[in-house]
Amino acid sequence: MHKPYNALGVARDARPSQPVTLVRPHAALRAARFFAQKFPGTSMYAVKANPSPDLLRVLWDGGIKTYDVASIAEVRLVRATLPEATLCFMHPVKPFESVFEAYHTHGVRVFSLDGMDELEKIVEATSTDGVAATDLTLCVRLRVSSSHSKLSLASKFGVGVEDAAPVLMAARQAADALGICFHVGSQAMSPAAYSDALALVRAAIVAAGVTVDVVDVGGGFPSIYPGMEPTGLQRYFDVIHAAFEDLPVSYSAELWCEPGRALCAEYASLIVRVEKRRGDTLFINDGAYGALFDAAHVDWRFPAELLREVPSHAKPLGFSFYGPTCDDMDFMRGPFMLPADVQAGDYLEIGMLGAYGCAMRTAFNGFTNGDTQVAGDEPMESAYVVTEPSREVVTPMRRVKR
Ligand SMILES: Cc1ncc(COP(=O)(O)O)c(C=O)c1O
Repeated sequence: MHKPYNALGVARDARPSQPVTLVRPHAALRAARFFAQKFPGTSMYAVKANPSPDLLRVLWDGGIKTYDVASIAEVRLVRATLPEATLCFMHPVKPFESVFEAYHTHGVRVFSLDGMDELEKIVEATSTDGVAATDLTLCVRLRVSSSHSKLSLASKFGVGVEDAAPVLMAARQAADALGICFHVGSQAMSPAAYSDALALVRAAIVAAGVTVDVVDVGGGFPSIYPGMEPTGLQRYFDVIHAAFEDLPVSYSAELWCEPGRALCAEYASLIVRVEKRRGDTLFINDGAYGALFDAAHVDWRFPAELLREVPSHAKPLGFSFYGPTCDDMDFMRGPFMLPADVQAGDYLEIGMLGAYGCAMRTAFNGFTNGDTQVAGDEPMESAYVVTEPSREVVTPMRRVKR
């Protein structure tokens, strides 16, 4: 990585033939500070969203000391990068060997589960010479609705509230601390996602009659993309705090969250080159098998900008993209709004790709990572720059002026 830059500078000076990842550590630092200071509990970082060691260190510096890991590779990565970090293994279906190594080698004490099988596995894998561990925090994952969210996480994991009581009671027996966790789905567009889910937590606690020490509201906190401009994150925090205060949990119960997207979406964007134009379709050098997986597979729209020394004054037009592989599926419908005169040889910046962008890149067809550069300018959108310090609130998210 090199000195601070901006997207136009990279395109103009380097004329890169490979896509360039542009990272903005200051944006991730700002997001980390916001969560660390304003969320009314402990904020973890969900490493899967972007496992870059550089990013992990930035988030740590911003006050994020706890990391949600979902695989043994993520456990090893965070332990090697941030030796002092607290790790929580929040995948509800883990290989036995991963639980064993996480507990015995890496000091992981927090695990999630959504059924009796996983509970038995965790108890066995964390025992020593047949003696059960006495220092476990076990979080039972409740199935909640994803109806407020752009990406559902409602089907694969979680025990329904009607079946949760026996699991909660058994976990209570095995745990030093008992938690309930859930995930409202990614990019939750309304704080009601959390209050609705916390109403289910209440019902589960009442039905099981157990003492709960941790309530983990998971990820789902939104960022800003074209056509998706949620209310400010402070509103989410206020709604969560009020609902948490109302729960029948122990007096010393802790509130946790596990944001991925909200902590790193603003961290990275991508500089791509237009290799060909066919009508309103641009052939670019990154795509569905690269950092644009979500653009291809769930029609996610990302902000795009034409990088020209002399700005174009052509009117905006909606474009689709083809990526560089030979696959028809390497297609991003968009529309991505760009000046109508964009042509082959132009460079584009595609923004807000720090979450689930670079993390999903493959080497299919030989198209791999290009260079990474550090940018000192602002991301295309920000959930964090519009602050009113006197009232300590963040008002509706909006576009950043660059
Ligand atoms: C268990 C868990 N926690 C947190 C996250 C992060 O979610 P988000 O990026 O929507 O904040 C995920 C994402 O899949 C997850 O599965």
